[in-house]
Amino acid sequence: NGIKTREHDLVPHRGFTLISGTHDPNDVDQIYNLEIRDSDVFVVTYPKSGTIWMQQILLLVQAKGDLAAIRQLNSRSNAGLVPWIELIGSRQAFITAPSPRLRVTHLPFHLMPAALSQKKGKVIYVARNPKDVLVSYFYFHKLANMLETPKDFDDFFEKFMRGDLVGCSWFEHIKTWYSHKDDMSMLFITYEEMIQDLRSAVERISAFLGQELSAEQLASVVKHSTFSNMKKIPQANYEQVSGELLSHQQGAFMRKGTIGDWKNHFTVAQNERFDELFHREMADTPLHFIWDI
Ligand code: A3P
Repeated sequence: NGIKTREHDLVPHRGFTLISGTHDPNDVDQIYNLEIRDSDVFVVTYPKSGTIWMQQILLLVQAKGDLAAIRQLNSRSNAGLVPWIELIGSRQAFITAPSPRLRVTHLPFHLMPAALSQKKGKVIYVARNPKDVLVSYFYFHKLANMLETPKDFDDFFEKFMRGDLVGCSWFEHIKTWYSHKDDMSMLFITYEEMIQDLRSAVERISAFLGQELSAEQLASVVKHSTFSNMKKIPQANYEQVSGELLSHQQGAFMRKGTIGDWKNHFTVAQNERFDELFHREMADTPLHFIWDI
C-alpha cells in the first residue's frame, strides 16, 4: 500500500549519507582502522550494481559449486553469510570472525580499511552502467522501507543527477575507488560483463580468489547464480528479509536483471542530460560501459 512502516533519519557523515538505526557513525569511523587478513574479501558496489549476485557467486565459489553445502552452513540469507561491513554490529563481528571473512560494502574508498591500500585482503569492485543503476535504485526506493519513496521517476532522476541519495553520488563512488585500483589487490568487473558471459566472469573471480574449480564445479557455480535460479532461492533473493525492511508487496528484489531497462524509463531529454553529465564526470577515466544489448 506504499505506506512506510518505518522512517529513518538520514545522517550526512564525512561525504557519505548514513541511515540512523541502520548505521552508527562512530562504528563506521572505526572501519578505517580494522586489521585485515590476506584471506579477507570485500565486494564493493554502488547500490543496485549486483551486490547480491556477487554474494551468491562468492559463496558458491568458496563451496566449490555445492549449493547444498552453503545452506547446511546455516539457514541464513546471503546477506547473513556475506554481510555488509557498515551495518550496526557488523564491524565487531568481523574482528572475531573465522577466515575467510567475506563482506560486502557500499562505502566510499576513504571510509574503508586503510590496510587495503597496502595490498592486504582482496577487493572485488562491481560496476554497472549508471542508467540501469538509476532505474533499479528507483524501484528499490519503493521497496525499501528505510528509503524515502520517490514522488515519481522524474523526481528520482533529478536526485540521482545531483547525487542527492543515501550514500554518495555514483560518479564519486566509482571514480575514487577506480583511482586506487592499483594500490590494492582489486578485481574490477562489470555487471554487464557478468550478464554477457557469466562463465568467464566466474572464472575470473575464482582465479582472483585463488580457488581452483573443476569444469563441473564451475558449471555448478554458474548454474546456481543465474537470475532465474537465484529468483527461486529465498536465501538468494531477499524474500526472507523482514517485511519491516522491505515491502515485498511493492515488488521483488530480483526485479529484471537485464541491461538497458533505462530505455523504458528515460525520456530523450533526460538521456541527453545524463550523457552530458556522464561525459563531463568520466572524461578523465578510461571506463566504458555497455548501455544496451
Ligand atoms: P534490477 O533492479 O535492474 O533487476 P544489488 O544486489 O546491488 O542491490 O543489485 C540488484 C540488481 O541486481 C537488481 O537489478 C537485480 O535484479 C540484479 N541481479 C541480482 N542477481 C542477478 C543475477 N543473477 N543476474 C542478473 N541480475 C541480477
